[in-house]
Amino acid sequence: MTNAAQTAPAPTTPSDAPVGLFDPITLRGQAFRNRLWVAPMCQYSAELEDGVPTDWHLVHLGSLARGGAGAVIAEATSVTPEGRISPQDLGLWNDAQVEAFRPITAFIRSQGSVPGVQLAHAGRKASTFRPWSETQGTVPADEGGWTTVAPSAVAFEGYDEPVALTTEAVGGLVEAFRVAARRSIDAGFELIELHAAHGYLLHQFLSPLSNERDDRYGGPLENRARFLLEVVAAVRAEVGDEYPLLVRFSATDWADGGWNEDDTATVAAWARDAGADLFDISTGGLVAGVSIPVGLGYQVRFAEHVRTQGRVETGAVGLIVGAEQANEVVASGRADVVLMAREFLRDPHFPLRAAAELGVELDYTPPQYQRAPFRVR
Ligand SMILES: Cc1cc2nc3c(=O)[nH]c(=O)nc-3n(C[C@H](O)[C@H](O)[C@H](O)COP(=O)(O)O)c2cc1C
Repeated sequence: MTNAAQTAPAPTTPSDAPVGLFDPITLRGQAFRNRLWVAPMCQYSAELEDGVPTDWHLVHLGSLARGGAGAVIAEATSVTPEGRISPQDLGLWNDAQVEAFRPITAFIRSQGSVPGVQLAHAGRKASTFRPWSETQGTVPADEGGWTTVAPSAVAFEGYDEPVALTTEAVGGLVEAFRVAARRSIDAGFELIELHAAHGYLLHQFLSPLSNERDDRYGGPLENRARFLLEVVAAVRAEVGDEYPLLVRFSATDWADGGWNEDDTATVAAWARDAGADLFDISTGGLVAGVSIPVGLGYQVRFAEHVRTQGRVETGAVGLIVGAEQANEVVASGRADVVLMAREFLRDPHFPLRAAAELGVELDYTPPQYQRAPFRVR
């Protein structure tokens, strides 16, 4: 399908060999010490207006690496200023941002974890107030906001109407992802995840509910997937054959006529052929106010479906909160890795505690902390 696909090593397909949560995994040339990874989490704490990480990000991400995670994936980090969810989001569109990330990635690496970054563009869900602001919705221009862009001029409920991107502008954004991938490497990141989930720009192109285009980026599935596949191919060509590349999908819009798990499996297989290695399977975010059957591990079945149907490696995420629960996800072959978010906020040392609970001896408990052995509570 692409030049990258012709030069890349044969794509990985999932293995049926039994594994545990603390078994290592390798993607391309990158080894991970375990299969318990930190999912991206926006902190809305960049230095105002310029997307530069701060000491907050160093301590926040650093503590998660110290806590034993196999990879720490930094929050949605925008490839252009207009792609930020809020004015306080991080970016990788300039060299000052690259410089500021370097000590953060170096610390994560020093703790034996893989520093990853989620490259993103929020599209019609950009320029919003951060969650703890008194006001919600779109930030007006006179308060530091900007005009948003999207596949079509269709607003997300409660937000301003976006401007539809021209065909040329879509090509410009493929290039922005490519350049940001280069900057990610310069910043010390050893893994990139492309954010094609939660109703942000790449997802807006995938879903027929937000994509009403009639050019080569709209209409049938191949066209709606084209932007993502071009980004995957461009990033793969930029990062080389040894670098791990993930894509995060929302496997369903939870809405009639929307994007679904079969579309996800199909496009994941195409994205694998274009150069992506593993698919982090979430759901939702495109349509406001839909009913979602939230419960423990409620998205694992989607990771399993995409893994089986698409013959691709997957990560499961969403209300996975316990050691036995997380271990079962990989041991049963439903996904290849587990990503967790909120449990890591409650306990940055969750992996060290989970290993104790599962009776697994780790050789990466920080020596400084050995006088406080991690035990089952
Ligand atoms: C504070 C916070 C920020 C988040 N920011 C992002 C983000 O930047 N990118 C993303 O893909 N998901 C984001 N998420 C979603 C999480 O990555 C994860 O998919 C979700 O919280 C479900 O996992 P959990 O039940 O383990 O928390 C965020 C979640 C939280 C709680």
